[in-house]
Amino acid sequence: MEIKCIDSDQAPLDLLLLADPSRESIASYLHNSVVFLVTIESKPVAVSAVVIEGKVAEIKNIAVATEHQHRGIGKKLIEHIKSFARKSQLDIIKVGTGNSSLQQLSFYQKSGFRIKGVITDYFEHYRPEIYENGIRCIDMILLEHKIISNE
Ligand SMILES: CC(C)(COP(=O)(O)OP(=O)(O)OC[C@H]1O[C@@H](n2cnc3c(N)ncnc32)[C@H](O)[C@@H]1OP(=O)(O)O)[C@@H](O)C(=O)NCCC(=O)NCCS
Repeated sequence: MEIKCIDSDQAPLDLLLLADPSRESIASYLHNSVVFLVTIESKPVAVSAVVIEGKVAEIKNIAVATEHQHRGIGKKLIEHIKSFARKSQLDIIKVGTGNSSLQQLSFYQKSGFRIKGVITDYFEHYRPEIYENGIRCIDMILLEHKIISNE
């Protein structure tokens, strides 16, 4: 498995769409993003788009190909982003996910992120309405991981 930084225009859209079904939304952040690509035998298996603003890195998109999920690849990619943030002397990694995204909430908290806030009604106007795990996705849960330089 290899993790490397690639040009944003080389990012695999099929993988980005797994985490963010809106092409318009992807286009709004992709070209300002640092893009990490995970490959196995040269085949793309995971991607993440991270926007840096000041001392803060925001994970805008992270996705592992369906057939490669639950094998620790997402966790390794998060560790790589943490190491990148530490080397870049950033303070915080932020990410936002839906209240109904129970898998992602588990994944981020197991990766050391803490819940820092909620933007209520963030998804209220989304049509069609989004349901996951039998729950309407309506609020955005904000999570953060503090970078500790000697970690
Ligand atoms: C969320 C996602 C990136 C996780 O990547 P992954 O490679 O499948 O996750 P990992 O195998 O590295 O799992 C890391 C930890 O999260 C936990 N986790 C992963 N999927 C989980 C699930 N469905 N339910 C509960 N916990 C889960 C694992 O148990 C693991 O914990 P452990 O270290 O105690 O074993 C991946 O499933 C994905 O791409 N999903 C679709 C796109 C998406 O939703 N992206 C996030 C948008 S906010």
